[in-house]
Amino acid sequence: MKIDIFTLFPEWFGWLSRERHVANVLARGSEIECVDFRRYTPLSGGQVDDTPFGGGAGMVLRVDVIDAALRGHYGVEPVELRSRRRVIALAPAGRLLDEALVNELAAEPALTLLCGRYEGFDERILENFASDVVSIGRYVLSGGEPAAMVICDAVLRKLPGALGDERSAGEESFSEALEGNPEYPHYTRPAEYRGWTVPEVLLSGHHERIEQWRRERSRERGGRRDR
Ligand SMILES: C[S@@+](CC[C@H](N)C(=O)[O-])C[C@H]1O[C@@H](n2cnc3c(N)ncnc32)[C@H](O)[C@@H]1O
Repeated sequence: MKIDIFTLFPEWFGWLSRERHVANVLARGSEIECVDFRRYTPLSGGQVDDTPFGGGAGMVLRVDVIDAALRGHYGVEPVELRSRRRVIALAPAGRLLDEALVNELAAEPALTLLCGRYEGFDERILENFASDVVSIGRYVLSGGEPAAMVICDAVLRKLPGALGDERSAGEESFSEALEGNPEYPHYTRPAEYRGWTVPEVLLSGHHERIEQWRRERSRERGGRRDR
């Protein structure tokens, strides 16, 4: 998996590459590359944005700047690029990131993430260069960088070798193994703390009953998704 992140703040992503499960997949050949929009801007003084037509507050990322960045980095016509790889523009009103979309993206060989800033992208960027517009939730961040990190984290941990124990990924919240339900509750030592005990069944050593208890709790949680 090769992930290219187009951003005005490439330095944000240094820690991500050192994070354990990300470092694990990078060591196995995956790559994260940050591309600074400013590097390719055709405008003077590193300009990348401009005032909105029609007036109003804030600045908008320019279509010619994103065009130049994609063209400069990939050496192809940016309008064609999205038929070769997923080009994902990050925006609060985009398709909500969920487990299904994460699985879809994890199956791709390469992703391009476009991080917006200020008032966001000129609409023509979304219309002509992006294959997808993705949101990590119905709230507004200051920039697309945290959203890109969320996508990288969620996608890369799906790849072989990311997690210390591959079983961790098999039975997680929203996985097929749990019929799309949230995961069951976990407990560890001490078995009693301040009078708070652990469900007896988990201490029983009876694997079938434990399995059944976990399935039931998971389904129960699926019935009340608000927690
Ligand atoms: C301040 S936001 C722009 C908000 C935009 N004016 C609006 O009201 O929808 C700047 C950038 O942050 C990113 N962003 C903010 N919230 C996001 C979210 N929930 N999911 C994904 N990206 C987000 C987008 O790339 C966006 O272009």
